Amino acid sequence: MRMDPQELLSLCKRRGFLWPAYDIYGSVAGLYDYGPLGAALKNNIEDHWRRLYVQGEGFQEISCPIVAPEPVFKASGHVDAFSDMYVECTKCGETFRADHLAAGLHANPASLGEDELGKMLRESGVLCPECGGGLTAPKRFNLMFKTSIGAGRGKTAYLRPETAQGMFVNFSQVYRYGREKLPVGAVQIGRAFRNEISPRQGLIRLRELNMMEAELFVHPEDKSWPKFRDVRAEVVPLVPNKGPPSSVALEEAVKAGVIRNEVLAYFMWLTYKFALDIGLDPKRLRFRQHESTEMAHYASDCWDLEAEIGYGWTELVGVADRGCFDVKAHLDHSGADLTSFERYDEPREVEMEVVKPNFGALGPLFKDKSKLIAEALSKLPAEAAKDQDKVTVDVEGEALVVPSSCYEVSKRKEKVSGRKLVPHVIEPSYGVDRLLFSLLDHVYSKKDEYIVLRLKGLVAPIKVGVFPLMARDGLGEIATSIFDSLVKAGIAAYYDDSGSIGRRYARMDEIGTPCCVTVDYDTKSDGTVTVRDRDSAEQVRVKKEEVAEVVKALISGASFESLRSPQD
Ligand code: GLY
Repeated sequence: MRMDPQELLSLCKRRGFLWPAYDIYGSVAGLYDYGPLGAALKNNIEDHWRRLYVQGEGFQEISCPIVAPEPVFKASGHVDAFSDMYVECTKCGETFRADHLAAGLHANPASLGEDELGKMLRESGVLCPECGGGLTAPKRFNLMFKTSIGAGRGKTAYLRPETAQGMFVNFSQVYRYGREKLPVGAVQIGRAFRNEISPRQGLIRLRELNMMEAELFVHPEDKSWPKFRDVRAEVVPLVPNKGPPSSVALEEAVKAGVIRNEVLAYFMWLTYKFALDIGLDPKRLRFRQHESTEMAHYASDCWDLEAEIGYGWTELVGVADRGCFDVKAHLDHSGADLTSFERYDEPREVEMEVVKPNFGALGPLFKDKSKLIAEALSKLPAEAAKDQDKVTVDVEGEALVVPSSCYEVSKRKEKVSGRKLVPHVIEPSYGVDRLLFSLLDHVYSKKDEYIVLRLKGLVAPIKVGVFPLMARDGLGEIATSIFDSLVKAGIAAYYDDSGSIGRRYARMDEIGTPCCVTVDYDTKSDGTVTVRDRDSAEQVRVKKEEVAEVVKALISGASFESLRSPQD
């Protein structure tokens, strides 16, 4: 049974995971604060992702500005294409995502144009869900937050809607740092901004969100992946855009062309592994392939890792083949050389088209400037001059228009040591907030009002609670020294000496603390404490000096059973 998201949000608010931002001013839809437990959980999720991508796969972690000048997003296509359609109530003024209002009327309303969608809403008699008023025709709305850099007229700029562009514009730096070899990858963890039309789903649709994105630059003609061999037999649940859902080995899916290439398949597997590592429920996960009409403007294939939560099936991660779209767009718009160089094993003779100056025609027309113009013409790429009746060249800062009678494009054989390539990009893009909220949904359990978050030790914000049975008789001092030793060992611990021991366990269970250590009167006589397991509520006694080691083992995934000595 799906859980009620409001119930989860209320626990999150009460226990310090999440707070609606600017609450004292009435809050703003789509903006949330992470409280201390939420921030710790988010950090733990991000740390594990870093372990997989930076340490495990060798991606370079970079950190770019959140604000970027307009040309960046003009080139990326976001200024022209990053939009949703909205309708407005003519009575109460509330705005709604037009495609959301058409859910149930069409299999994929987001794929429709304004006119088609408007006609469908009109003919189906859809009215304002808030007040029943009439609705305007759908209009497009760009989702980027616009701002300006500097005083006066300033420069038009936008808050980034994805962290990805910072990595594309830095391709040359990343490539050079990676010793000029493909494949090479960069990652970024950070904020992105989307001025959503009507965010109504808690942490699922945010106006300021957290992303973990990886951009892997690969050879455009080679999307094989040596490490794919290690995971080819793994099975992930697939919902392809053609054909029935299937759970087949990745190798079979690649061979059948269901997943386009090994790189995409490998990073789908890594994404699935990450999801299981942090504790999402495999029975409520699937990869859904985008319809061609649903794909972002830059993608040629995309699989979403989706989780079933209280809001229904929800996208958590997109693994996309962005082809050469972004790097080529920035190369074309900026003029920067964002190519990689493929060196051949042996130099090859190739026929090249080159621009050859015609001195006979240049001399009379350009006199003493002819020599410099001839040099500039020789440097022009053939494509810039071919089939043109004139070209413009820059000579000592002056733009000179040169007619085609002054040059010809001819073929020449040359030995070359390699070729320039615009890399392709495979992008796994993770929504941190959605992962976090879906994880809480999957680990939430409730029995007779008793709530337990079954968070894995890897991500739990607090790893262990430390309690003296009584605050008196020296038990508090022993518990404090155990707490101090845990903190010293780098373990997130929580000291609690108030209320009954049952209440203290309950407080820790409710926030997902995997275990609790209790100091009692036996501790004074035999130096042992109890360690209680959250999920089974079972207890074992261990020596107080061994607590840090035991807790570390539990966090790393050791079973509680393995703590039992034979005589227990
Ligand atoms: N970079 C992928 C996305 O913005 O969804």
